[in-house]
Amino acid sequence: MLELIPSELPVAKLFSYLTSCVAPRPIAFASTVDKDGQPNLSPFSFFNVFGANPPIVVFSPSRKGRDNTTKHTFDNVKEVPEVVINMVNYSMVNQVSLASNEFAKGVNEFEKAGFTSVGSDLVKPLRVKESPAQFECKVLNVIETGSEGGAGNLVVCEVLKIHIDESILDSDGNVDPQKADWVARMGKDFYCRASGDAVFEVEKPGAIVAMGWDKLPDYFRTSEVLTGNDLGLLANLPGMPNLDEIIKYREEIDYEGLKSTMSKVELRKSIHQLAKELIAKGEFKKALGICVEL
Ligand SMILES: Cc1cc2nc3c(=O)[nH]c(=O)nc-3n(C[C@H](O)[C@H](O)[C@H](O)COP(=O)(O)O)c2cc1C
Repeated sequence: MLELIPSELPVAKLFSYLTSCVAPRPIAFASTVDKDGQPNLSPFSFFNVFGANPPIVVFSPSRKGRDNTTKHTFDNVKEVPEVVINMVNYSMVNQVSLASNEFAKGVNEFEKAGFTSVGSDLVKPLRVKESPAQFECKVLNVIETGSEGGAGNLVVCEVLKIHIDESILDSDGNVDPQKADWVARMGKDFYCRASGDAVFEVEKPGAIVAMGWDKLPDYFRTSEVLTGNDLGLLANLPGMPNLDEIIKYREEIDYEGLKSTMSKVELRKSIHQLAKELIAKGEFKKALGICVEL
């Protein structure tokens, strides 16, 4: 393992490791105004949601590493503590990057990056029409984490109103990731697109607490076939199957027939292979049951 002590690294190098490893990060396309009402629009991937009651989002326009100056967005939220956070999807990403240019103070990035501004209902900053989800926020506080170039400025915001384009909703009214097609920032110039095969489901643990990894017999954990991801699903079950269930599952796969044709090692391998197939079909309990060695 590469071992690194942050204080021993140049800030740019540290920034690169941090932003490449803490990735992907969602992007807040932040719309603010200065005290004269001049609009500003810039993307920030030091961003996330931190609570729903009250609804809190935080983003960070950092102090510039190069010359330790502050960003217009930071200056603006100090002057007018309001922001609209517009979420970024794939069809906007190059224009969003365009808006991140260091345009001079007072330059309107809606115009520079070709976005359409829409008035907000509860705050002064404008919304980005092209963004399928927009959050009107008031800034609760700004936490400056340092005074040197590269230091973060956490802009803690409470969401006052949410606008969601109905075209990204599924039939139950929930946001459909395939329709939303969000993009996220990674390290360097890399981004990722959260749709297609990149999106998959991991069912949340249920109300009954899982038995846990430590309850799986050793021959599961040392399996040449079952991976950590496979075992994570099996260990998420509430417990091992009982004897009747094991016998039933064994009959279903003709355990005795298999046993008569191969060695113990081969048998374990083929049973684990069958378990893997059952896991792929979501039949976790049966997968666990056929692997149990009596
Ligand atoms: C996708 C993306 C994410 C960015 N994330 C951040 C960030 O989290 N913090 C930051 O200080 N700058 C970030 N930047 C750079 C700012 O957008 C850039 O410095 C911009 O010029 C700031 O504009 P302003 O001075 O008008 O606020 C990001 C740029 C892009 C393209």
